[in-house]
Amino acid sequence: MERTFVMVKPDGVQRGLAGEVILRLERRGLKLVGAKFMQVSRELAETHYAVHKGKPFYEGLVRYITSAPVMAMVWEGPNAIQAVRQTMGATRPTEAAPGTVRHDFALEVGRNLTHASDGPETAVAEIGLWFKPSELVSWDRATDDWIMGSN
Ligand code: GTP
Ligand code: MG
Repeated sequence: MERTFVMVKPDGVQRGLAGEVILRLERRGLKLVGAKFMQVSRELAETHYAVHKGKPFYEGLVRYITSAPVMAMVWEGPNAIQAVRQTMGATRPTEAAPGTVRHDFALEVGRNLTHASDGPETAVAEIGLWFKPSELVSWDRATDDWIMGSN
C-alpha cells in the first residue's frame, strides 16, 4: 500500500488546524501509520527543502519551517500520494479548489499550512528522512475492507 509524508507546518499548528488536517485525511479513508510533534532543526529543513536551494524564497522557507513546531506524519492508502495532495490543494492557496485545506484555511503561498510528498521517489526519501522504520506502525483497521475493498 502506498505511503506518503505529510506535515502540518508551523502556521497550521499555531492556528490550531493540525486536528482539522488529520480529520480530513482520516475521513477520506487514509490510515495514519506514523506521527510526531517536533521542532525542526535547520539541518533537517535544509535537507528536506534541498530541491529549492537557490530559489528566492528558499531562506524564508527554511525560516518558516523552523520557526515553531510541526506535526510530521506518514499516511497510507491506495494512491495516498495523489489523494493527499488533492485534499491539500494547489501550492498557492488562491489557486486551490474550494473544499481543499489550502483553499479553505490559507491565503498565501508562504503560509500554506501543509506539506505533502509529490511523487513515489520523494515519498520514500521524505519518509526515510523524517522517520525511523521503528516509528512507523503497520496496523489493521476494522474499516479497511469498507474503504479499500475492490469487489
Ligand atoms: P509542499 O507540499 O509544501 O512541498 O508544497 P508543493 O509541493 O505544493 O510546492 P513546492 O514543493 O513547489 O514548494 C514547497 C513550498 O515552498 C511550498 O509549499 C511553499 O510553502 C513554498 N513556496 C513555493 N513557492 C513559493 C513562492 O513563490 N514564494 C514563497 N514565499 N514560498 C513558496
Ligand atoms: Mg513540494
